[in-house]
Amino acid sequence: MKPPSASSAMFCFIGGRAQKQIQMFLKILASFVFMALAYRFYFSKTYVALHQPDFILPLPTRAEKCDVFRGEWVRDPEGPAYTSSSCGTIERHQNCIKNGRPDSGYMYWRWRPRDCKLPRFDPKAFLRFMRNKSMAFIGDSISRNHVQSLLCILSQMEPPVEVYHDKGYRSKRWFFESHNFTLSVIWSPFLTEAKIFEDNDGHATGAVRLHLDEPGSEWVGEFDKFDYVKIGAGKWFLKTAVYYENNTIIGCHNCKIVNVTEVRFDYAYRRALQTTLNFIRKSDHKVYTLFQTTTPDHFENGEWNTGGYCNRTVPFKESEAELRDIDTIMRDVELEEFKKAVGDTNGSTLKLFDTTRLALLRPDGHPGPYRAFHPFEGKDLNDARVQNDCLHWCLPGPIDSWNDLLINILLRE
Ligand SMILES: *[C@@H]1O[C@H](CO)[C@@H](O)[C@H](O)[C@H]1NC(C)=O
Ligand SMILES: *[C@@H]1O[C@H](CO)[C@@H](O)[C@H](O)[C@H]1NC(C)=O
Ligand SMILES: *[C@@H]1O[C@H](CO)[C@@H](O)[C@H](O)[C@H]1NC(C)=O
Ligand SMILES: *[C@@H]1O[C@H](CO)[C@@H](O)[C@H](O)[C@H]1NC(C)=O
Ligand SMILES: *[C@@H]1O[C@H](CO)[C@@H](O)[C@H](O)[C@H]1NC(C)=O
Ligand SMILES: *[C@@H]1O[C@H](CO)[C@@H](O)[C@H](O)[C@H]1NC(C)=O
Repeated sequence: MKPPSASSAMFCFIGGRAQKQIQMFLKILASFVFMALAYRFYFSKTYVALHQPDFILPLPTRAEKCDVFRGEWVRDPEGPAYTSSSCGTIERHQNCIKNGRPDSGYMYWRWRPRDCKLPRFDPKAFLRFMRNKSMAFIGDSISRNHVQSLLCILSQMEPPVEVYHDKGYRSKRWFFESHNFTLSVIWSPFLTEAKIFEDNDGHATGAVRLHLDEPGSEWVGEFDKFDYVKIGAGKWFLKTAVYYENNTIIGCHNCKIVNVTEVRFDYAYRRALQTTLNFIRKSDHKVYTLFQTTTPDHFENGEWNTGGYCNRTVPFKESEAELRDIDTIMRDVELEEFKKAVGDTNGSTLKLFDTTRLALLRPDGHPGPYRAFHPFEGKDLNDARVQNDCLHWCLPGPIDSWNDLLINILLRE
């Protein structure tokens, strides 16, 4: 004979009246739960259920097609989703708190689009969406900065396992086992094939040799593995370089080599973007591509190598910031090439990840001198020899908001 189950034993024990009361109580409880669900379903128009019933995603409230990249930075008392101690993988140059940055106000802002709500990044929803998928961030150190931010937030849900790194630790791959999700960052600062003669501190021993018509060997070989890619470049095109097309020198930028004509960097950037976008369009493997626009820096009173600094502690307001010429040129090239490519994607998906403007408004979020550990220890406070970083972002910092935008774009489809 089967022993009675625990619940039936309990109901045998509580007889007659008591059982009726319990049933009544359960009915009332159930109707409360139902009413709460119904309220959520009928009265909050901003929610829609996707695929799984508990996969709930806020949609734009005011505009059907909201440009999430237009808006402003608003104060966020809740602050970042992780701290410099709860995330163990922050690169030392971006670990501003550990390096001694004294103020913390820059961590308490969120990006708010003008015409719609931007929900906070939900690591659970992201990992669920990425189940069995692979995503790669391809580009320069800004891409790496972004991946680090994403990793810090995701690792609160599931700690990733690093499964690959290149010799210089600039390309890496992580695996989230319980979601079967692979996340890669691929160092390809020109997106196209380049021979770079430079160490990790930026000291060059020769001009870059850049093949404008060949996509970068760092990523083309792996391209077929990716379901999602984010590509972004820009800053490296300002460097001294010799340009090649069809394996022949077509000119150079700043190289001052006899009989090699000067070619503007924006020509090179345009050709490199065309090569990259053409490769993606021609490929048999159809991916979802996010194309990121340029990230302006905030060096003031000098450049990175001439004593420029960035010591502001609050964001700019919309009217306070203007894009510099160089960034305007880059952005115009990006928008033109994106527009051409998006008209004929040949089965792939192409989206603009237009963070230029929202990055421009955050002069306060850079490491500045705190790229190094306690930079002023034993030094004069105005020591010009202290190197500033006014391009990358502190972690936690403004770049965390890019994840809010990322998940919004991916899941809104
Ligand atoms: C992981 O995802 C890949 C597709 O990217 C799939 O082929 C494989 O079967 C998945 N593995 C598991 C254990 O779910
Ligand atoms: C992931 O892959 C496994 C194995 O191929 C499959 O059983 C599962 O349904 C997939 N899940 C999703 C969400 O695609
Ligand atoms: C590239 O160079 C080869 C010979 O070096 C030539 O045959 C070919 O026509 C060139 N292609 C283009 C597109 O210029
Ligand atoms: C540069 O070009 C001129 C004219 O074609 C030629 O006479 C000269 O030898 C070239 N110089 C070098 C260094 O190649
Ligand atoms: C479209 O993609 C196919 C591969 O799927 C490729 O053979 C073809 O050349 C592409 N067309 C264009 C116009 O790029
Ligand atoms: C930033 O540094 C400059 C030069 O040292 C100084 O004049 C200015 O007051 C500083 N601004 C802030 C907000 O600390």
